Amino acid sequence: MCGIGACISLLYENVAPKILRMLKNLEYRGYDSAGIAVVSANGRIDIRKDVGKIDELDEKLGFGEMQGALGIGHTRWATHGVVNKTNTHPHTDCTGKIIVVHNGIIENMKELKEFLTNRGHKIVSDTDTEIVPHLIEEFLKEGKGFMSAFEKALSKLKGAYALAIIFLEERDRIYFARFFSPLVIGIGEKEYYVASDVPAFLEWTRKAIVLQDGDYGFISRDGIVINNLFTGGKVDREILVIEWTKEMVEKGGFPHFMLKEIHEQPQSVKRTLIMAEKQIDGVISYLDQARDIYLVAAGTSYYAALHGQYAFAKYGLKARAVIASEFVEEVGSFIDEGDVIIGISQSGETADTLRAIRLAKRRKAEVLSITNVVGSSIYRESLKSIIMGAGPEIGVAATKTFTAQTAVLDYMVLKWAKEHGMDVEDLIKRLKKVPEDISVVIKENENKAKELSKILTKKANAYYLGRGIGLPIALEGALKMKEIAYLHAEGYPAGESKHGPIALVEEGFPIVTVVLRDETYDKMHIAIEEMKSRGGYIISVVEKNDSSTIRLSDYSFLVPVGYSNIIAPLLYVIPLQLLAYYTAVIRGYDPDKPRNLAKSVTVD
Ligand code: AGP
Repeated sequence: MCGIGACISLLYENVAPKILRMLKNLEYRGYDSAGIAVVSANGRIDIRKDVGKIDELDEKLGFGEMQGALGIGHTRWATHGVVNKTNTHPHTDCTGKIIVVHNGIIENMKELKEFLTNRGHKIVSDTDTEIVPHLIEEFLKEGKGFMSAFEKALSKLKGAYALAIIFLEERDRIYFARFFSPLVIGIGEKEYYVASDVPAFLEWTRKAIVLQDGDYGFISRDGIVINNLFTGGKVDREILVIEWTKEMVEKGGFPHFMLKEIHEQPQSVKRTLIMAEKQIDGVISYLDQARDIYLVAAGTSYYAALHGQYAFAKYGLKARAVIASEFVEEVGSFIDEGDVIIGISQSGETADTLRAIRLAKRRKAEVLSITNVVGSSIYRESLKSIIMGAGPEIGVAATKTFTAQTAVLDYMVLKWAKEHGMDVEDLIKRLKKVPEDISVVIKENENKAKELSKILTKKANAYYLGRGIGLPIALEGALKMKEIAYLHAEGYPAGESKHGPIALVEEGFPIVTVVLRDETYDKMHIAIEEMKSRGGYIISVVEKNDSSTIRLSDYSFLVPVGYSNIIAPLLYVIPLQLLAYYTAVIRGYDPDKPRNLAKSVTVD
């Protein structure tokens, strides 16, 4: 899940500083190594690349000083080939005239590498990417020009790719191609951009073209040419005006995007509910007619899907949450006409979730989705897609998109329940009041989280326990702690924890419990007692006036009364987000760029 940033200046101004900014804005997509290539006025190529984060590399290599009015850049999340300078992008062909950056995985790299080395090509890196410039170089020998060599090379590639390419003999063009991996074009006043995601160029323009699978072509000072491999010939793509503002992709005075995004949740939930109200009508009828309903997603979005399963069940609507990467094996053979699949994905580009909804479509099921990105693959490939109002999420750890996703699912089931004559007016009113109470939860628990992180930082393991609606919240809290603080936190159904996991519990072992005042309350207390009697250090997220759980706990995060229902995730998860954040910070880690992770997982 690398980040591609490319730019051509319509006024022949220097683009290197812009490409550097684009890569900075995309660093959430991968940050183990980076490189930039620019073509100078005299047609020379300047390529600078190495291992490290972009700021360090800029200092070392002087990215910002590179001279040229056209260039391509890349920030890497390694898939093929270890993290080293040789495997860092851009990559070139034998002549050095074809320069390529790539995001995705070329599955038939071995076969193509053999084809190329048998024809004398010197492949210097272990990456799948380097195959591309050599393949184009090989087909250029047929003398039919770059575009035809490019098309032929694309027709040989299997897997996923987003590409930006410079050909030195045509140095007023940047070629691009997209299959499976996301790629967008930005249309600025003074520049055109090619990038993996809109935040790359949002500070200069909000006009974007979202490329579709099979699209390829070039940007030049004479304009933008888009063809499609599958439809053949030129295609017209809509120019979208993105709602997001540049402030949304800046830290706004916060030390990290993650903390900013945690604090943005009152506004993002409010915007999401307003937008859901306008979009929901078309969806309810699908729920009614559905043979079976499946909620499919990955990571944090899967925990939102699991919340959906529990919330729907509260009103007698049967839905099954399925982990996207298990979809084929777990339910693939059951999917049939009449089934409704709801794909949940903040980026709208997660490969596992895309693969699941594509299988469902092939089996004639109807696909709906909840996503945060207009024009994303999941948005485009759904019959109906509900757009969340979270705004761009830059921190790799999802926070505001989790609460936005659960807000949409809650609103969906409450609307459905209302249409089926159930009295849910109170809960709909309470849902609309949530943004205010999220601010209260942040205000009243942030310092507590900071304090408690000083204790947790000394721990290697922890359990997060919940029951019913509380379980997805506990699972999400544990995921946050794992992914940014590298503390092995395991989310677990509280009742199930006595069937084995409790064996690990000893004096001081952190047990985070999500305690709702609903039918699970007494059983949660039993679980707490069982853990406490073995020395567990009990940290609870509870209602303010729940004195008996507070008494039972060594530490309590307090949330306003009246949310021990399907709205719970929107409040109870917040202290767990803050706890993970402050534990990461106190451990000296960068919460925005956790190791080994990237924001949108666009490969298998
Ligand atoms: C969550 O913090 C992670 N970034 C990751 O688990 C993420 O939720 C998952 O990759 C799904 O992403 P999506 O919502 O963009 O599909």
